[in-house]
Amino acid sequence: MMIDKRLIGTVSESKKYIARNVALQWLALAANIVMLISVTGFIASLYYGIATDASMIVTAVTALAALTVRFVCARGAARMSYLSSKAVKRTLREKIYSKLLKLGASYGDKIRTSEIVQVAVEGVEQLESYFGAYLPQFFYAMLAPLTLFAVLCFVNVPSAVVLLICVPLIPAAIAAVQTWAKKLLSKYWDQYTELGDTFLENLQGLTTLKIYQADEYKNEEMNGQAEKFRRITMKVLSMQLNSITIMDLIAYGGAAAGIITAVTQFAAGRVSLAGCLLIILLSADFFIPMRQLGSFFHVAMNGMAASEKIFRLLDLPEEEMKTEKVPEDVSVTVSGLRYSYDEEREILKGIDLKVPEGSFVSIVGESGCGKSTTAAILTGRNKGYAGSVSIGGTELSEISEANLFENISYVSHQSCLFKGTVRDNLQMGKPDAADDEMWDVLERTNMAGFLRAEDGLSTKLAERASNLSGGQCQRLALARALLHDTPVYIFDEATSNIDAESENAIMDEIRRLKGRKTVIMISHRLANVTDSDRIYVMDGGTIPEYGTHRSLLGLGGAYSQLWNAQQSLENYGENYGKETAA
Ligand SMILES: Nc1ncnc2c1ncn2[C@@H]1O[C@H](COP(=O)(O)OP(=O)(O)OP(=O)(O)O)[C@@H](O)[C@H]1O
Ligand SMILES: [Mg+2]
Repeated sequence: MMIDKRLIGTVSESKKYIARNVALQWLALAANIVMLISVTGFIASLYYGIATDASMIVTAVTALAALTVRFVCARGAARMSYLSSKAVKRTLREKIYSKLLKLGASYGDKIRTSEIVQVAVEGVEQLESYFGAYLPQFFYAMLAPLTLFAVLCFVNVPSAVVLLICVPLIPAAIAAVQTWAKKLLSKYWDQYTELGDTFLENLQGLTTLKIYQADEYKNEEMNGQAEKFRRITMKVLSMQLNSITIMDLIAYGGAAAGIITAVTQFAAGRVSLAGCLLIILLSADFFIPMRQLGSFFHVAMNGMAASEKIFRLLDLPEEEMKTEKVPEDVSVTVSGLRYSYDEEREILKGIDLKVPEGSFVSIVGESGCGKSTTAAILTGRNKGYAGSVSIGGTELSEISEANLFENISYVSHQSCLFKGTVRDNLQMGKPDAADDEMWDVLERTNMAGFLRAEDGLSTKLAERASNLSGGQCQRLALARALLHDTPVYIFDEATSNIDAESENAIMDEIRRLKGRKTVIMISHRLANVTDSDRIYVMDGGTIPEYGTHRSLLGLGGAYSQLWNAQQSLENYGENYGKETAA
C-alpha cells in the first residue's frame, strides 16, 4: 500500500538511509524491551520480597544503558531522515531540471509553466517527507509488532496472539478511507492550482484591472474561489482528524484487549507476575508505530499525488536527440508549410518562402495573418508543423536546438531583458564580449548616449527591464542580437515601439546586415521593406503575392493598396508638419 517502486527506484540513493533509519528505530525498540524486562522482573521480586541491593543496582544500570541506547538511536534516525530528504530533493530537482532542458524551447506545447513551478517546488517538498518520514515508518511499523510478538511468545502466547491480531485493524481502517480520500485530495489539488493561477494572473495585471475598474469584480471572483478552496481544505482536515480518531480507538481498544487477556491468564496462573507486567507495559508499543504510520497517511497521499505529477513531467515525450547541424549554406526554404495551434483553426495554410543565403527578405501582412507564427516555426518554438522547412537542405526538425540558436538570432517586439546590468544582458549575446565591442553595438542602436548619462554598461535593469522605455528595451535587445553575430537574423516587428528617429537609425543598422547576413524581416510598415530583395505578402495564412517592391506595385494587388494607404497617411503627416511650422 502506497509504496511506489518506481518512485523509490528513482531515488535509489535514499534506500540505504531508509534501511539505516529502520535499523536504528528497531535497536531503540530492543533496548526498550530489555529495560522493561529488567524493570518488571525487579518489581516482581520487590512484591515477593526477594529483591536484593545487587539486583537493584543491576536493574538501574540496565535501565540507564537502555535509555542511552534509545537516545542515541533516536538522534541517529532523525539524521537518517534528514539525509534521505536531502537526497530526494537534490535528485528529483536535478531530474526535473534536466528534463526541462531536454524538452527545450517548445516545452510550452506540453505543460504549463505554473505546473512546472509547482511540481518542482511544492511537489518535491511533499516527497521530502514521504521519504524522510513515511517510508521508514512504513517498514518499522511492520517490524515492531513482529518483534514484540516474538518476545512475548516466550512470556504468554494467548496475549501475544491477541495483540498481534489487533494491529492490522489500523491499516485496514486506513484502506477504507483511502479511496474516498484520494478523490478528495485530487479535487483539493485542482482547486489549489486554479486559485494559484488566477491569483498570479490578477496580480500581474493589477494595473490593467484598475484602469478598467474590473478589480472589484475580479476580487469577488477570487473570493469565490478562495471560499471553495477553504471548504475543500476543511473537508480534507476533518477527513484527516476523523481517521486519526478511528485509529486511536483501534489502538487503545487493541491494547486493552491484550491487557485483559494478560490479566486473565495471570489470574489462571498461566503467566508470572513479571510476565503479566511486561505484557501490560509493552502492549501499547504494538500499536504506536502503526498508529504513527497512520498519522503520516496524508503525507503519503500527498506524496503519491505529487509523484504522479512529477512522473507526468518526466514522462513527457522528448524529441529524439537531434544531431544535425546547420549547414554552411544557410539559405532557408519553406514549402507547403501548414500549422495550427488547435485542431479547429488552421493558421498557416500552405506557404512557400525562399530566402537565399545572404538575401534580405521581408514578410508583410495584416495583423493576425500568421507572421509571428511563421517566425516561431523558423526558430524551433512551434513544433508539429506539416510541410517542409529546411536550412541549407537540412530539415529543421533534424537540427539540434543548441546549434540552431547558434546560427539564428531572433529579435521581436517582446524580446526578454533580464534583471541585472546592461553588461549581463549584452553578454548573453556574446559571453566574451569586450567593453568596446558592447559600446560599438550600443552606439549603432542609438543607446550609447542614454547609457553614458546613466551608469554605462553597469546600468542596472529591473526585472524585464521595466525601468527602460519600450523603445529602449527594443534597442537594447537589438544590440544584444547584433553582438550575437549569427549568419541568420529574424526580426519580428523589431521597431514597433520606437520613435521615428530611432526607428530610422535601427533600420539603417538592419539594412547594414544586407549582403552580409541572411535576414528575414517582419514589419507592418512597408516603408521599412521597400529595398528588400523579395517581399512576401501574407494574408490569412497564405501568400497571395510576392516580389520586389517595384514588381508588387506593378501588380496593383493587396500590396500596392496597402502601400498607397500608408503613403498618403505619412504624406499627410509630413504636410501637416510643414503647415504648422509655417
Ligand atoms: N499561442 C497561440 N495559441 C493559439 N492561437 C494563436 C497563438 N498565437 C497566435 N495564435 C493565432 O494565430 C493567428 C496568427 O497569429 P500571429 O501571431 O502569427 O499573427 P501576426 O501575423 O504575427 O500578427 P501581428 O501583426 O498582430 O503580430 C492569430 O489569429 C492568433 O489568434
Ligand atoms: Mg506578430
